[in-house]
Amino acid sequence: MELPYFGFLVAFLITLCRATSTFSPARPPSLPLAVKSPYLSTWLAAGSDGGNGGYLPGQWPAFWNNQITGWTGMIRVDGTTYTWMGAPTGPTTANQIAYEYTSTKSVFTINVAGKVALNITFLSPITPDDMKRQSLVFSYMNVEVASMDGATHNVQLYSDISAEFISGDRSDIAQWNYGTVDGIAYHQVFKQTQLLFSEKSDQGEWGNWYYATDAVGSMTYQSGGDTDVRGAFTSNGTLANSKDTNYRAINSNWPVFGFAINLGSVGSSAVDTLFSLGLCQTDAIQFDGKNGIVSLPSLWTSYFSDDLAALSFFHKDYSTSSSMSTALDNKIASDSIGAAGQDYLTITSLSARQAFGATQLVGTTDQLYLFLKEISSDGNVQTVDVVFPAHPIFLYTNPTLLKLLLDPLFENQESGQYPNQYSMHDLGSNYPNATGHPLGNDENMPLEECGNMLIMTLAYAQRANDNSYLSQHYDKLKQWTSYLVAEALYPANQISTDDFAGPLANQTNLALKGMIGIEAMAVIAKLTGNTADASNYTSIAHNYIAAWQGLGINKDASPPHATLSYGADDTHGLLYNLYSDAELGLKLVPQSVYDMQSTFYPTVADTYGVPLDTRHGYTKGDWELFVAAIASPSTRDMFIKDLATWINNTPTNLPLTDLYDATSGNYPGITFANRPVVGGAFALLALP
Ligand SMILES: *[C@@H]1O[C@H](CO)[C@@H](O)[C@H](O)[C@H]1NC(C)=O
Ligand SMILES: *[C@@H]1O[C@H](CO)[C@@H](O)[C@H](O)[C@H]1NC(C)=O
Ligand SMILES: *[C@@H]1O[C@H](CO)[C@@H](O)[C@H](O)[C@H]1NC(C)=O
Ligand SMILES: *[C@@H]1O[C@H](CO)[C@@H](O)[C@H](O)[C@H]1NC(C)=O
Ligand SMILES: *[C@@H]1O[C@H](CO)[C@@H](O)[C@H](O)[C@H]1NC(C)=O
Repeated sequence: MELPYFGFLVAFLITLCRATSTFSPARPPSLPLAVKSPYLSTWLAAGSDGGNGGYLPGQWPAFWNNQITGWTGMIRVDGTTYTWMGAPTGPTTANQIAYEYTSTKSVFTINVAGKVALNITFLSPITPDDMKRQSLVFSYMNVEVASMDGATHNVQLYSDISAEFISGDRSDIAQWNYGTVDGIAYHQVFKQTQLLFSEKSDQGEWGNWYYATDAVGSMTYQSGGDTDVRGAFTSNGTLANSKDTNYRAINSNWPVFGFAINLGSVGSSAVDTLFSLGLCQTDAIQFDGKNGIVSLPSLWTSYFSDDLAALSFFHKDYSTSSSMSTALDNKIASDSIGAAGQDYLTITSLSARQAFGATQLVGTTDQLYLFLKEISSDGNVQTVDVVFPAHPIFLYTNPTLLKLLLDPLFENQESGQYPNQYSMHDLGSNYPNATGHPLGNDENMPLEECGNMLIMTLAYAQRANDNSYLSQHYDKLKQWTSYLVAEALYPANQISTDDFAGPLANQTNLALKGMIGIEAMAVIAKLTGNTADASNYTSIAHNYIAAWQGLGINKDASPPHATLSYGADDTHGLLYNLYSDAELGLKLVPQSVYDMQSTFYPTVADTYGVPLDTRHGYTKGDWELFVAAIASPSTRDMFIKDLATWINNTPTNLPLTDLYDATSGNYPGITFANRPVVGGAFALLALP
């Protein structure tokens, strides 16, 4: 046999022998592991751009922007050690055979040498109605072990985290402690020099990280250099119950914080070990509110006296928290499948943790807020045109969460901290500093943001039946409406929320948002007893919409369609702002416009969707789902099928991007990742 051929045969046999995993309902570009807040955001890259296909053993988990956050799992079976998470040097890699996700969980099934099976459940709870639980920045990892070959095996389980969680700068100095509380053993890791309200490479630079498990008698712990601690487990199956006191840089002989649990003799009934991972920051946000700039505490500090009380509650709450999360998983599953089938669930369930994971509850139980980070695109706080695409998930899960997102925007502007007549774009250039824009020099997106504020305020009030909220903010809403009356019919040359696509005058879709905003104000006026305003605004909105149909629609095309901008007959785009006409039940826009667009979109679809507009080959998943939500069933299903197919096939390897090339499925030269706008996937479920 010729050697090259032999080499090929060997490679072929190795490929055949290497177990492959199933992925259900899809193989996402990046798999969510611990995804709970802007700073607790750990994923596993899968897409071929740099991920390993979605295998937990053999690759390090990473922060959303792909900085490694060392998190290790090993298991010793009858004296031989295998890796089931991460890529420590030494042990053989176990075989992953399945991965499955729901809205709150990622579950891996792993085969260890045909001897034992592992089910590893990463649960990042979402409790939209329970502020106490939702306020905790913690995530679970539960490891179930059982024999899979009928024999009993001598088993020890190991897991650690590295100090890479505590800072975006690997040369920063880490410090740590070990302790027990309420029968829970924990490692505490933190930056020796705390930098309050600061970020490096998007990681938070303050607070205490915790890694915890049950302090059972069969548990040993150790902190120390990575090769020392992992090596002790590999050779002995136990750790030294010792603490390294040489506090040092994250990347200096990499300190890790490990637990080993001697499970002893394991047969066919599964043995569980629970780990909790989380971050406690007493102060969370700087906010320029009605009393000037204040520092707002994390909301969990209202419920718990200190970090350890919070950690203890969380760790012991697993069974309740897990069943609450399962109830939410099931609700999203049955609603998604009922609305548009399994492909739709593939998208919604992947989006839920990512959308909630960009938010954090802060303040006190009397005065709480939900803050949101515009992750990856610029780090702004409470960006109005990021809250807008995300808002369907909040309307659907609990409309009060939308109010909690809008409240700080109203508070800052109503207390006179923003000089412009139109709505602000965001509450601060860099999360967690919601310090406003007292000079009014925020990104200029006036028409977009006035429309967004009016639409979202009414959407909340309708779902929550809260007209007092409308009265409370009536003056500011009316001020923004005046801006729309002046500017919406012929929008000046400006950017829309899709700022990366460039500025343009007379944007058909942007004008539509302004007009819907005016009609929303007519409804707000009516609901608050301002009948003269109500009739004024509704007549303006109807006049504008009549004109808009002449200006922004190419009636002679076959098929006819809305244009990207007035009179540009050869152009088109996703008319996603039409969604809010349906969302608010306005019936401002005739059904014929909906039908026209439903007929048109399939004629311009690419492999993975319909381009955002005629200027570029890329599209936006969030806007596609806004459009799908109000389309005919067949056009809706086309959008959903193409997006679900893209999720499975995209070479992108960071947490779900909302911006991708509709033909190649790759990043279009701009890398968006992990943005909360994926909450827009719930557009169909948020309709009345
Ligand atoms: C893993 O989960 C599956 C499905 O629930 C179950 O059948 C199996 O017994 C579990 N295996 C272990 C090791 O817990
Ligand atoms: C937030 O503001 C503080 C000063 O109050 C500053 O030290 C910190 O770097 C800012 N954070 C970010 C992320 O810009
Ligand atoms: C293994 O355990 C023995 C006895 O407990 C101890 O003396 C030895 O140092 C351990 N080896 C390692 C590598 O930790
Ligand atoms: C209607 O609203 C516009 C825009 O705010 C305003 O200029 C006009 O005076 C209003 N008309 C009436 C009758 O209130
Ligand atoms: C907007 O469209 C109107 C009507 O076609 C036109 O008169 C106006 O010049 C356009 N505005 C800009 C800035 O191009």
